[in-house]
Order: sequence, then structure tokens, then C-alpha cells
Amino acid sequence: MPNDIATRDQDRLLGELKEFLRIPSISTLPAHAADCRRAAQWVMDHLRRLGCPVVELLEGQGHPTIWAEGPKVPGAPTILLYGHYDVQPAEPLEEWVTGAFEPTVRNGNLYARGAVDDKGQVFALLKAYESVLDGGKRPPLNVRFIIEGEEECGGRVIFDRLKAEPWRTEVDAVVVADMGYYAPGVPAVYTALRGLAYAEIQVRTAESDLHSGEYGGVAPNAIETTARILTALKDANGRIKIPGLYESVKPPSKAELAGWKKLPLDRRRYLKQQVTAKALTGLQKYSIHERLWALPTFEIHGIRGGFVGEGAKTVIPCQAVAKVSLRLVPGQSSAKAYRQLAQAVKRVAPKWADVQVVPLHAGEPVQVKVDAPAFRVLDRAFQEVVGRPTVAVRAGGSIPVVTALAQGGAPVLLTGIGLPDDRLHAPNEKVTLSQVWDGIQVFGRFFEMMAEK
Ligand code: BES
Ligand code: MN
Ligand code: MN
Repeated sequence: MPNDIATRDQDRLLGELKEFLRIPSISTLPAHAADCRRAAQWVMDHLRRLGCPVVELLEGQGHPTIWAEGPKVPGAPTILLYGHYDVQPAEPLEEWVTGAFEPTVRNGNLYARGAVDDKGQVFALLKAYESVLDGGKRPPLNVRFIIEGEEECGGRVIFDRLKAEPWRTEVDAVVVADMGYYAPGVPAVYTALRGLAYAEIQVRTAESDLHSGEYGGVAPNAIETTARILTALKDANGRIKIPGLYESVKPPSKAELAGWKKLPLDRRRYLKQQVTAKALTGLQKYSIHERLWALPTFEIHGIRGGFVGEGAKTVIPCQAVAKVSLRLVPGQSSAKAYRQLAQAVKRVAPKWADVQVVPLHAGEPVQVKVDAPAFRVLDRAFQEVVGRPTVAVRAGGSIPVVTALAQGGAPVLLTGIGLPDDRLHAPNEKVTLSQVWDGIQVFGRFFEMMAEK
């Protein structure tokens, strides 16, 4: 059995996790580059203290990736553990009950940006490793850590290194701890992730902003033009009107669909407590799970332009920018989706508007097989600690590096300790502390049982 730091040392562990969470390692904002480095340093110091003989930064253009190796254990299997130390921006700040980077416990939950995505999970991996060190030093198997700093912003550092150095992914199993339970008490492994094609649509309609009294009635308006382009790309029923987009979608198998039907899903509670809206939207003829896991989406993330200050300003804006993305499902590719998006935008844009589609951040959809023996080991670990094996489901989110982690043919265990109401990327993100303590024990048992094989 792993030593029981997860029950005995909760105060110390909580203090350490808070330290990690206080570092605003927001990878997408250049002003926080130094904070990203501080977070990387925090992880490195930790790994060194745990006795890893190899702890290094993989540098590239952007935020570094941490690489570490535990002491060699001849004859034992090798596992690779993945997580990310970067976090999303915390805005809107005024929505946070306590500061995004002032981790605070309320009601058994720890609130902070990155609490569950993904620092809390990286922490669970580190502490699980700590818990299986024999005499505080020797792990039962060969453990490699790869903790990146560009998951949320789309950097190349980890990709380029894994591509150039394929030995890093030549292991017996990869654990990606960046997801969550299907429901409270129901741990999960994921059979697919969606991909992403994120872009900016830049629209210009004149050289200068204009007075809306002087020119209103004759001059084009960039925000109106942008709105027309955007609404032309999806109809009111949720069908995306980008020609060809649905063509390469690979439908889920009958067995997969049947499995999803059996999952517990209380539609009303899902709507009220998770979506927190008055109604669900999207393609009604598909189930919620199909819409989340097996169909692409088109989402508008933000529109910039014109006047949004206090009071009134009568301006006809000459430029606007919309941030949009397509989530992609198995069968689709980001390159093709970008082409289709750009063509569709060109088709619906008025001739007199100057419109550019600029790709920002892409990730490919992935599908993984969950029949390797390592999955049974993970099931046993969850069974022992939380009393239930995993359910195999898909995720609607994306983790671009998974394709690279899978390149060596090792089974990739997409799993994690999150809960559906953790509000990742949103104000008041939290991790439930009991999930962290359980997670440490689950991963610890997983390491031990992998070593026995
Ligand atoms: N951990 C998430 C991905 C995730 C979310 C997986 C929910 C499963 C369920 C990850 O940190 C993330 O947010 N990914 C981004 C990637 C994107 C910026 C390419 C995402 O999905 O938006
Ligand atoms: Mn994440
Ligand atoms: Mn994220």
C-alpha cells in the first residue's frame, strides 16, 4: 500500500498546493511569461525534492516543458505522466468570490484558477509518486514526468520535442491527468477527445471610424457585417452552415451509442446545475452525449470593436474582430476545418468588406482504445479507493498533445479527478479536496499495481 500522506498530511499538502496555485501562470498572456517560468520552477523543485535524478526544462519558443525521470528500476515497466502547469486567464475577475490566485477553501472545495485544470491534478500525480517512494527514495517502477506550460495557449514546445525525440513516449503506459469523473462517485476513462480549430475573423469595412449622423445610411458598419457573417455560419437549430464540415464526421459505433444511453443523466439537473441556463440548444435529433462528444461545434468566444465604454458614442466602427472556434470530432482534421471555415466566411462576406480568417490554435481530435491491460489496473485502483471502476466515455474538450503522447503506441489513459461542477475556465474554478486525496491514493495504487505486473 502507498503511505497514507493523503489522509495523514493533508495540512502540509494543502499548503503546498496553495503555493502552486498562487502563481498566475497564464500562458496565453505574454505579461505572465515570467509567472509561467516560476510555476515550472515550482514543479522542478518539487521533483528534485522527491529524488528524481533527471529534472530538466525542455526549452523552445514559448513556455518550457518539464521533463523528469525517477531513479531507474531495472526490469520494471515504465510509465509517463502528463499534466500542464499553465492556466487560463481569470477574467471576469469581479465574478470571483475570492481571488483567482488567492486559493481559498470553502465547504471542502479549494477555489482558484487552475485548481482542477490542471495544477490540482499535476499535484495529485506528484503526491502519488511521493506516496510510493520506498524509504522516501525508491519508486516501484520507472516513472517519467512531462508537465507542459502551453496546453491552454497552443505552443509548439512539447510537440516539437516529442516529435524529435520519440524515445520519450516509448513507455508501457501514458497517464494524462487532465479530465474528470463522469459524475460524482463515477470515475472515467476517455475513448475520444474533440479537436479544435480556433480562429480570429478580422473584418474591415472602411479606413476610418465615422460619425453615425454624418454617414449613417450610406456607410458600412464592421460590427453589423461581422454579426451577419457569424449568424450565416450557424442556423437557429444549431446546424453549422460550413459546406463540407459534417462530411468527414465518423459516427460513433452502435456499441458506443448503446453505452452512452446507459449512462446516468438527469436532463433537468444537468440543465439547471451544470449548464445553468433555461434551455438546451443544438441539434435536437441527437442526444446530449452525441452533441457533446460526436458532433462538431461552432462557437463565438468574443467580439471586439466599436465603442463599449460608459455612456453613448455615435460611431460607425470600421473594424471588428470575432474570436471563433470549431470543435472537431474523430474523422475531421483541423487543417481541413480551417480551409472550410475560411471558404465559408469568404462566401457569406459582402464584397465590400475586407475579411481575414487567421488561425490561432489547433488540436486534432483523438480516439483511443481502452482495452490494454493498464486500463484494468486503473479500474482496480479506482475500485479499491472509491469503490467503483471507470466508465468509458468521451470528452467534449481537447488536449492537443495527446496525439504526440500516443505516437509510440503506448496505451494512453485519459483520466482525472475533476467533477462536472468544477467550472474550469470560468470564475470560481474549484477542486473538491476529497477528490485530490482520493486521486493521490488512486494514482499511488495504480503505480504499485503496474509495478507488480
Ligand atoms: N483539461 C482541458 C481539456 C478538457 C476539458 C478535457 C474538459 C476534458 C473535459 C484542457 O486544459 C483544455 O481546456 N483544453 C483546451 C484546449 C484548447 C485551448 C486547444 C480546450 O479544450 O479548450
Ligand atoms: Mn487541462
Ligand atoms: Mn483547460
